[in-house]
Amino acid sequence: MLSRRSFFRKILENDEARAFLMNSLAVGEADSAVGLDKAAAHVTDPVLARKIYRHFAEENRHARIFGRHLEQQLGVKPQPLPPELDYEQFVRRYAMGIPMERLEDPEPFTTSELIRFMVGCKAGEERACAEMEGLLTDLAADPATVEVLREIHEDEIRHVSFSTEELNTLAEAGHADEVRSELRRARRAEAKAHRAVSRAFMGKLMSLLGAPGIVRFFAGVGIDIQFVVKWAFPGELDRPWVENPMPVPDRPRAASSEAAPGTL
Ligand SMILES: [Fe+2]
Ligand SMILES: [Fe+2]
Repeated sequence: MLSRRSFFRKILENDEARAFLMNSLAVGEADSAVGLDKAAAHVTDPVLARKIYRHFAEENRHARIFGRHLEQQLGVKPQPLPPELDYEQFVRRYAMGIPMERLEDPEPFTTSELIRFMVGCKAGEERACAEMEGLLTDLAADPATVEVLREIHEDEIRHVSFSTEELNTLAEAGHADEVRSELRRARRAEAKAHRAVSRAFMGKLMSLLGAPGIVRFFAGVGIDIQFVVKWAFPGELDRPWVENPMPVPDRPRAASSEAAPGTL
């Protein structure tokens, strides 16, 4: 049987599988930024809008870091992912976060929409953190990639803490029940999206590595079990992991001095 450790060792030994993994990470980061700049424009609190915009810029920065790493290590540029690996598409299909059409409507978010936006951020960022933590161990034999992952992981910890901090503020302002039920709903929707993409992702990697059918079968079962556990136990609202996770100047962002995406 292929252990997780030997599975990732085989990926590192196979240029095509390695490029597939790195490309998925680079594109995933770029996709996670989509819509955050528009969401920032729907928030009436100028300091919160700045924080969301900073989040947008940091996700774009992650995409550039992974993209550069992909080019330096394997000499290829990031390529778009096929639909079955498009995590953001599944996230939207399962109604996590704010629909894209709503972001085209300039009307500011209601409190319920802000809660829905923030629980979507939290569920997605919690997954990003968990995935990074797994990869830090799985790819230990590739120090250059680990260095990149470690830098990005520190930001993801702040991103989880930022959304958690905002949700705690909303809960303390009298919306605790809505925050808790929306958070459970978002985590369950995220778990569905993660299962769909993980099955496709694992299938592709197993094909590249020539893994036998029985190994693919048990890998799929493992992904399904992970999904069932997350769906059954989505967890409660916790406290931020770090203090002051998204520092920004305590004043509105002047339109003329708006930072270009990714200039952080
Ligand atoms: Fe990221
Ligand atoms: Fe993030």
